[in-house]
Amino acid sequence: MRMVDIIEKKRDGKALTKEEIEFFIEGYTQGDIPDYQASSLAMAIFFQDMDDEERATLTMAMVNSGDYIDLSHIKGVKVDKHSTGGVGDTTTLVLAPLVASVGVPVAKMSGRGLGHTGGTIDKLESIEGFHVEISEDQFTQLVNDDRIAVIGQTGNLTPADKKLYALRDVTGTVNSIPLIASSIMSKKIAAGADAIVLDVKTGNGAFMKTVEDAEALAQAMVCIGNQVGRQTMAIISDMSQPLGHAIGNALEVKEAIATLRGEGPKDLTELVLTLGAQMVVLGQQAVTIDEARNLLEQAIEDGRALDKFKTFISNQGGDPSVVDDVSRLPQAQYQYELAAPRTGVVTEIVANELGIASMMLGAGRKTKEDEIDLSVGLVLNKKVGDNVNEGESLLTIYSNQEEIEEVKQKLLDNITISDSGDAPTLIYKMITE
Ligand code: URA
Ligand code: CA
Repeated sequence: MRMVDIIEKKRDGKALTKEEIEFFIEGYTQGDIPDYQASSLAMAIFFQDMDDEERATLTMAMVNSGDYIDLSHIKGVKVDKHSTGGVGDTTTLVLAPLVASVGVPVAKMSGRGLGHTGGTIDKLESIEGFHVEISEDQFTQLVNDDRIAVIGQTGNLTPADKKLYALRDVTGTVNSIPLIASSIMSKKIAAGADAIVLDVKTGNGAFMKTVEDAEALAQAMVCIGNQVGRQTMAIISDMSQPLGHAIGNALEVKEAIATLRGEGPKDLTELVLTLGAQMVVLGQQAVTIDEARNLLEQAIEDGRALDKFKTFISNQGGDPSVVDDVSRLPQAQYQYELAAPRTGVVTEIVANELGIASMMLGAGRKTKEDEIDLSVGLVLNKKVGDNVNEGESLLTIYSNQEEIEEVKQKLLDNITISDSGDAPTLIYKMITE
């Protein structure tokens, strides 16, 4: 087989066979196929697309390019959740203990990554003593006993995706539905998921700027999952403004605790119940979405969700008393209020720019080597659709720097107050098959 023939076939709009796709992925991973041929094929896929069968084949070829996490010793259907990214997205911190408290096994492998705030592991590490350096045996044991554990990234998962994603990044081929969908799904499957729930974000803080694009990506991923034997559901949710109130590591842990207590922000709570209900159905702890949602609401109401969070923290070396006394979390030295420049209705809070402002305070990493400050970040006191009076606080800035004029200016530049406006739709769509 010759790579040039595969490129020409896709260039001319024909479907590739399983053998051709596997030849490309294996050859590229091993370094036998050069970057220029791989980028040419990626561009051909960008313009000519792939059919459902090609997408599923590409996904599994990438899964098979590296290690596979075997979760078969863990009892039950392992359901993983993936979000396509956003600002102040505290959902994982709430969802993991919540669904575990109604019996869905949460066997999560998590990395650190780059972004506006730390990843889920960084956030959890703002709890004194909490760590994810546990053995695979311990991990299995904890999930079997208590239905929840988080372990740091191990193994060499989907090396084909790593290499191809880096290449796409510099060749104008990131924004292709078959390539994005196979990239995301291959990582979830290699991490051992039996079933997958996807939160595809739309809006200015997201990768997919329109609802139509987000829906096309969600449909593509659901279709791949179901073809390769991993039941998959998705929702399309808003990321035009940050989710919930908190952006920052310890601040988000505090927000997660409030939400598990039933006292969280309305939008975060609604998103968690929607995604959680899908996880509970896929995890076979309820038959219908409505029944699943009731189970979750009860677990919040009667304190089981919060108890599960405490068990999870202490199982992994952390101090569970933070749950009852959040002042034990890292605290920033200074708090500043951002005063509203006029009276009116908040009509825009640009998610991505607020994320950058949090990173300027030290909450996130720009490069892998950066240290993050777990205590700093932002807490919104107003969201889109809220009324505000001139001089009232739009948000609170938690900082360890005294000089924050640049951050304040960025925030003011990215919050709009008008005469009238409404809150955005939070959940545009649920895709269950
Ligand atoms: N995120 C991924 O993991 N892969 C893509 O291709 C795009 C976004
Ligand atoms: Ca939040």
